[in-house]
Amino acid sequence: VQDPSVQIHAAPETPQGYGSMKRKEDARFVRGRGHYVDDIVLPGMLHGAVLRSPLAHARIVSIDTSAAEAHPKVHAVITGETLAGLGLAWMPTLSYDTQAVLATDKVRFQGQEVAFVVADDKYSARDALALIDVEYEPLTPVIDAKTALDRGSPVVRDDKEGKTDNHIFDWESGDSAATDKVFAEAEAAEDQVVVTADVLYPRVHPAPLETCGALADMDPVTGKLTLWTTTQAPHAHRTLYAMVAGLPEHKIRVVSPDIGGGFGNKVGIYPGYVCAIVASIVTGKPVKWMEDRSENLMSTSFARDYHMRGEVAVTKDGRIRAVRVDVLADHGAFNATAQPTKFPAGFFGVFTGSYDLEAAHCAVTGVYTNKASGGVAYACSFRITEAVYLIERLVDIVAHDLEMDPAELRMKNLLHADQFPYQSATGWVYDSGDYPHTLQVALDKAGYQELRAEQAERRRRHEAGERVDLLGIGLSFFTEAVGAGPRREMDILGLGMADGADLRVHPTGKAVLGISAQTQGQGHETTFAQIVAAELGMSPDDIEVVHGDTDLTPFGLGTYGSRSTPVSGAATAMVARKVRERARIVAAAMLEVSADDLEWNDGRWQVAGDPEASKTIAEIALAAHSSLELPEGVEGHLDASCVYNPPNLTYPCGAYVAVVDVDPRTGTVNVRRFIAVDDCGVRINPMIVEGQVHGGLADGVGMALMQGIAFDLDGNCLGGSMMDYLLPTSLECPSWELGETVTPSPHHPIGAKGIGESATVGSPPAIVNAVVDALGPYGVRHADMPLTPAAVWSAAQGRPLRT
Ligand code: CDP
Repeated sequence: VQDPSVQIHAAPETPQGYGSMKRKEDARFVRGRGHYVDDIVLPGMLHGAVLRSPLAHARIVSIDTSAAEAHPKVHAVITGETLAGLGLAWMPTLSYDTQAVLATDKVRFQGQEVAFVVADDKYSARDALALIDVEYEPLTPVIDAKTALDRGSPVVRDDKEGKTDNHIFDWESGDSAATDKVFAEAEAAEDQVVVTADVLYPRVHPAPLETCGALADMDPVTGKLTLWTTTQAPHAHRTLYAMVAGLPEHKIRVVSPDIGGGFGNKVGIYPGYVCAIVASIVTGKPVKWMEDRSENLMSTSFARDYHMRGEVAVTKDGRIRAVRVDVLADHGAFNATAQPTKFPAGFFGVFTGSYDLEAAHCAVTGVYTNKASGGVAYACSFRITEAVYLIERLVDIVAHDLEMDPAELRMKNLLHADQFPYQSATGWVYDSGDYPHTLQVALDKAGYQELRAEQAERRRRHEAGERVDLLGIGLSFFTEAVGAGPRREMDILGLGMADGADLRVHPTGKAVLGISAQTQGQGHETTFAQIVAAELGMSPDDIEVVHGDTDLTPFGLGTYGSRSTPVSGAATAMVARKVRERARIVAAAMLEVSADDLEWNDGRWQVAGDPEASKTIAEIALAAHSSLELPEGVEGHLDASCVYNPPNLTYPCGAYVAVVDVDPRTGTVNVRRFIAVDDCGVRINPMIVEGQVHGGLADGVGMALMQGIAFDLDGNCLGGSMMDYLLPTSLECPSWELGETVTPSPHHPIGAKGIGESATVGSPPAIVNAVVDALGPYGVRHADMPLTPAAVWSAAQGRPLRT
């Protein structure tokens, strides 16, 4: 619970401590001194490797491990049967489903974990995999989500008693009756239309630079398990291990050292982690398991795979009245996605976007297929990426059908500043924003009218038969909902989503901040130190941020969904304010005045009206540890802790403009310019914010133009290497043009909103809108991602590719 004695107040105008500064953690990263899971070596450490299924759907007839066990360097071979004996063959997922740790009855996707070999070194472990003989009886796989619910479709999850189909969940949001009413009116009225489109967000993968892995060390003497692992949520993982394995939680230490990117890929618990733990218990030695690139791409959680039908009721002069959406979500063989319990389709409910609608409704159905578990929130706050993509494509399709300018259509429908706080038609309360202003800043920066004039000129030359690239201009306006979340509404597996922070100020005036968030490269060691520095008048260099070790940090649910700054950042500001209030009492004793006579000014406590009589935090810290007489009941020292339960999510927004050149003869797309105006409230470190935006924009180029993981009819994964699954490089990216507007979050202690994922959310629709816009002379209304040259060329021929 929040400490009621700590006042939340609006962000200071120019807080001391905020501003661009180089990342403190880069001192080790740029010198190659980062310390990742695979860098850790323990005495006597063994290595594990996973045997994976070559088939997408098959019954396991037998597993013969004798040859592997006879390998001179092999210490153990663990199968589903071994785990079943320990009650660990299946584990709970973060969505109240179950997932096979090692397959016992059958395999359900290509790449599923079947056996785990433990050997002296990783090469021997991998060699021994080839000695395991598994007999499979192939079954027909379920690959197409659209037919997964058909009568007679093979049942993927026949391990579940009584299960006769591939249905996972039905979820809806909004008011169905009110929405249908608006649609009925629109269909009947002369001056209104209903615009419909089928939009696919294809299956993509977060593909972090560092793959997933774990090093487990069960100390047989103390009974303490230490697990160094690639997790975005060390505390949540520890609690789950305690629940599943029955180990006491205080006997488990989860350490998440430097992490080479997460993007949602490292939120869940993978079978390899559990196998490493079991292997350490079985062998009595530390056991390390690190997956390779193909294992990461083929078997860890995927994202998206949302098949969406959207309908918009709109007046012919462009007033959007209602949106109705039907979604089929392919969650693969195990529903392992991490999202708050009440939201099986995540925050897809924000599909109403940034617009003032009379009514809205969506229905989402989740299905099992024979693919690796899907539904991971890849760099997005629980399905917001899909929601934003859908609404921003729909708005452009409306503009196309009504022959309106997409910027004008957006301006006509965007929420206005005076409507905040705004309750959306699906019940979300947007905290703050000035959307028309943000869009106008982006349009001005882009030189929108000049671009339209150039586009007209190109089209004229194209129609005259000249070989010119066509120019496309694509807009997107997004609202994110980040900072999950208020405990009354949000939990993951029953764990509330509040975050702790503790702050210790040493006698010599330096401080250590412990947070539950876990950085994966976002710069928390710098920005969180800046928050404390701003609150206490210190230098960020004097504050050490500790994270990623459950023995050293307070409980919290970790870093994903851009929740660090909205939740842990808020906890940090609050705990610093607690320390500041303690410091006030000590300063009053030092200055021999009443605490009421002190005011916080210029980073120090000073006697009102007497700037000479003041004390800095460093001076106060020393006194707090000294023999100074303090008032009755006041403890010494300057340490504090707090738990922050956010009252609401924060709602960053942004207006993006993509400018592309498309060669209609080859389908090649060149992103010429990209203008991104983001509003994430108060920026703690603008340079880090810009870095976050750069990364997300590059992600967007990848998803819009290059990426998509397809499967053949047998369920073979066609994106299992980086020869097939392409990552964008600087060659595909323009020099980003960034801008900002600032509307502080009214409920966040420092007015900050999250930024980490905004650009990944906002950029794909802008790029797709731009490509479709460029193909205007070919009458293209929509084409699905990824817009590879083949897809663009086919769309121009009037035969869009279907994934
Ligand atoms: O949860 P995650 O760290 O991925 O996302 P975030 O909270 O949006 O923060 C990403 C990075 O940007 C962190 O270092 C933040 O402290 C920083 N940031 C900032 O400087 N100002 C903001 N208003 C938001 C984030």
